[in-house]
Amino acid sequence: MRISRENLRAYEEDGYLFLPGYLTSREVDVLVAELPKVFAEDSPRRVLEKNGKSVRSVYGAHTFSPTFERLVRHPKLVMPCEQILGSSVYVYQFKINAKLGLVGDVWEWHQDFIFWHKEDGLPESRALNAVIFLHDVNEFNGPMFLIPGSHRYGMIDVPGQATVPAAYAESPDWISNLTADLKYSIDPSTLKILVTEHGIVAPKGERGSLLFFHPNVAHASSPNLSPFDRTVAIVSYNSVENLPRPQKERRPDFLVAEDYRPVMPLTEDALFTLTEDALVT
Ligand code: SIN
Ligand code: MN
Repeated sequence: MRISRENLRAYEEDGYLFLPGYLTSREVDVLVAELPKVFAEDSPRRVLEKNGKSVRSVYGAHTFSPTFERLVRHPKLVMPCEQILGSSVYVYQFKINAKLGLVGDVWEWHQDFIFWHKEDGLPESRALNAVIFLHDVNEFNGPMFLIPGSHRYGMIDVPGQATVPAAYAESPDWISNLTADLKYSIDPSTLKILVTEHGIVAPKGERGSLLFFHPNVAHASSPNLSPFDRTVAIVSYNSVENLPRPQKERRPDFLVAEDYRPVMPLTEDALFTLTEDALVT
């Protein structure tokens, strides 16, 4: 499923493209049904909120959940990303951000590329995020904020802050890339300049909506003060022509994939054929 030339132009201009109601309600049902199993798995791939109890994110679910494996290979995601990046793509990172009602915490203002460049040696920002809304997103449950056009400033270099909140004292260093206190957050004076110039958008919409955004777009989200969950799945695709340079210390492969094989898109009904396959075997 390809996106229009107009859509491509909008993405280039704004650094994001929002497609409300892009996946059908039935497709979202299949994904949401898989969440309890994914959230229940106690492993380093699962990151908790500061309260030490609620799930904040689960990384790499496409490597152990056949449903999410199908999502990352869905043509509705893969084909627009190939168009935007002008090459085949592979899954660089996949995460599910739970942002649960009343406990889902903030994501500070940041760009994704600085993490991928500094931590993983990603040479260029020739990558993008596909955010799939698994719940309706409204102004109350912590929608993402983006600064349109901020990708055109390139990577805004900020020094990494090594402080890790006490709740994560036992965790490896890379936890500071994943918590509410991010290692490379944008400083307030730069933020003020960007927002004064370009404003903020907060794409809101029904479950199934899809947000593509550039890894140099400045973005954030507020805590979820509503009683309703705001869970999203975020597939970060990288161009196969933009592989990370070898690092002395590599983050785990659920944060920076070692599998560079191009994603072969499945058929449009990818999320429904799983049960049929299961019945056959
Ligand atoms: C992100 O910055 O990758 C996620 C933000 C969010 O889930 O609100
Ligand atoms: Mn981000």
